[in-house]
Amino acid sequence: MARLIEIVEKDAVGETMPTKSFRLKHDLASHPLFQLDRLAKLAGDLPADQVEWNGQVAPNQDPKLTPANGMSAEETVRRIEEAKSWMVLKDVGTDPEYKALLDACLDEIAEQTGGAMGGAMRRAAFIFVTSPGNVTPMHTDPELNFLLQVRGSKRMSVWDQKDRETVPAEHMEMYPGKHRNIPYRDEYEARALHQHLEPGDSIFVPLMAPHWVQNGEEVSVSFSITWMTKEAENFVSLQYVNAVLRKLGLPQAEPGEHKLWDGVKVAAYRVLRPAYDAVKKLVGDRDKAVALVFGRKNAEPV
Ligand SMILES: [Fe+2]
Repeated sequence: MARLIEIVEKDAVGETMPTKSFRLKHDLASHPLFQLDRLAKLAGDLPADQVEWNGQVAPNQDPKLTPANGMSAEETVRRIEEAKSWMVLKDVGTDPEYKALLDACLDEIAEQTGGAMGGAMRRAAFIFVTSPGNVTPMHTDPELNFLLQVRGSKRMSVWDQKDRETVPAEHMEMYPGKHRNIPYRDEYEARALHQHLEPGDSIFVPLMAPHWVQNGEEVSVSFSITWMTKEAENFVSLQYVNAVLRKLGLPQAEPGEHKLWDGVKVAAYRVLRPAYDAVKKLVGDRDKAVALVFGRKNAEPV
């Protein structure tokens, strides 16, 4: 393979950002940056707020009851085979070696799509290290994402972002302090696209498409490379505004139904978000800021 990453389903990319998942191939399966020794060093080097890990969870995991595994981040990577754990190393582009790889991959995607995908806005990379058989609960992500399977296998169930029969709007929407997990039911599976990933496989995960992950019977390492566009940022802002208005008892239309009103909401978000961030900085804690601004006692979903 001449490239680091290559789109397999070339017809999936048109002039607008795809809203459906599609497949790619990559050449990172034996890359030195994804060997466990290097990842353990990275886990130890990253600031605490860039590393998150936990013990065994279920697809419908209650975020308040997420179990710890009792180990340090570095130890978790070194013992991932038997740790029954899930770990994410966030924004690994703060390390220059990972930043160079992130940029190289997204530049290649931009080249293959005539600039439609892989843009330079808010590029970021995450690495998921998971024990055999582990699960990532159902959730959405507020960015455009290519997931590259580097080691082990996983099955991802991915839903259409607009599939309201599976996920009601109030579960899709995000608001400050809301946990990313979405309530899951087995009957949702019939409407999912199932993507099976082996080392060298990659998929595009559309903006805020609900998904959950079942890992195979080996240690899994995945590289997630993300970026944003102006349209994607507006869409995510709208989700925040709709969620807050819905919490205030005001039913909201789907994004795109009332384009003018959507624009007003996005503009309001741009004005109000810095005020919320200022309150958060002032009180020094997200939960306290949420309570002050939204009148709630804690930041968990209700
Ligand atoms: Fe995700």
